[in-house]
Amino acid sequence: MTTPPPTSLVSTAPRVVGDALVAPIGFGCWRFTGTDVGAAGRLLDDAIDAALEGMPAGTRLLVDTADVYGLDWGGAGFGTVEEFLGEVLAADPARRRNILLATKGGIRPPVPYDSSPEGLAAACADSRRRLRVDTIDLYQVHRPDLFTAPSDLAATLESFIDDGFVRTIGVSNFTVDQYDALAAWTASGLATTQPEWSVAHLDPMRDGTVDRAMRDGVTPLAWSPLAGGRVLSGEGLRPELVSALDAIAAREGVDRATVAIAFLLAHPADAVPIVGTQRSERFTALVRTVGIHLDRADCYRIVETSEGVPLP
Ligand SMILES: NC(=O)c1ccc[n+]([C@@H]2O[C@H](COP(=O)([O-])OP(=O)(O)OC[C@H]3O[C@@H](n4cnc5c(N)ncnc54)[C@H](OP(=O)(O)O)[C@@H]3O)[C@@H](O)[C@H]2O)c1
Repeated sequence: MTTPPPTSLVSTAPRVVGDALVAPIGFGCWRFTGTDVGAAGRLLDDAIDAALEGMPAGTRLLVDTADVYGLDWGGAGFGTVEEFLGEVLAADPARRRNILLATKGGIRPPVPYDSSPEGLAAACADSRRRLRVDTIDLYQVHRPDLFTAPSDLAATLESFIDDGFVRTIGVSNFTVDQYDALAAWTASGLATTQPEWSVAHLDPMRDGTVDRAMRDGVTPLAWSPLAGGRVLSGEGLRPELVSALDAIAAREGVDRATVAIAFLLAHPADAVPIVGTQRSERFTALVRTVGIHLDRADCYRIVETSEGVPLP
């Protein structure tokens, strides 16, 4: 019997969000805290061009923001990133057509979380106003509000769809049980779930998050897919993981960031890593190089060195 050559697990095919197709790498706006509309527009246009190159017609770039962005990371306060993004989108309508606009609500400092019907309705209305859109493509609950019943949250989110305020709904940072409780009450279904997920943080592959997503045909969006830059700096990563990533990177002729993002694209959940760089050249390089060869042996080497425990 001959052993078949190892096949690459990395998929760069478009992903599905609701009834839309999106590029396999998304653009994150947590650090989109500038004030120069021209420069930010060029950054977004470059990301759109890179991400949509070679994709089927109609594919869009998923752009992820949140009402709370701007409160840290050099921003001027709550809502300012949405306001800035709204200005950048309004400056050129082609941008809006080429992106799937995703935002989040439900964090309300100093409460800190409020997904009550009235709280989330106000948050969604404010996001639409700041983003200057009638309809948000994907509205996500940023963090679970332990004091809102899942039936009430589902009714609120469904009402946003019924009223045409949002096209699809999703969650972020929900435990599997919190996800299940909400999903059970949600007639139109969740489109996405957004956990922290990177080579340095494999929990969603172990705690059921991405398994639930695969069961339900829900697309995982991986936040901080380069561990907020720590994949590059090595800070807090096991040295064995850094060595494994670098060895694969050298073999493939790419950098460590590419291997880390390719690892997420190798998982069968068909996730969308939301990359947070604010440098065009880095975003473009990732998109262009991510289709490397990662087979099972490579992926398990990353898992084993990340977890620091020999696989049974
Ligand atoms: N749902 C949630 O609770 C939650 C929480 C956090 C983030 N998010 C989402 O996830 C997105 C991404 O988060 P993140 O910004 O932490 O993502 P990330 O992609 O893990 O990290 C981005 C950081 O890595 C740096 N970096 C260094 N070398 C890089 C390279 N070669 N290529 C790319 N980046 C490099 C970037 O700096 P430069 O800009 O200088 O390149 C940037 O500061 C956010 O924008 C947000 O949409 C969601």
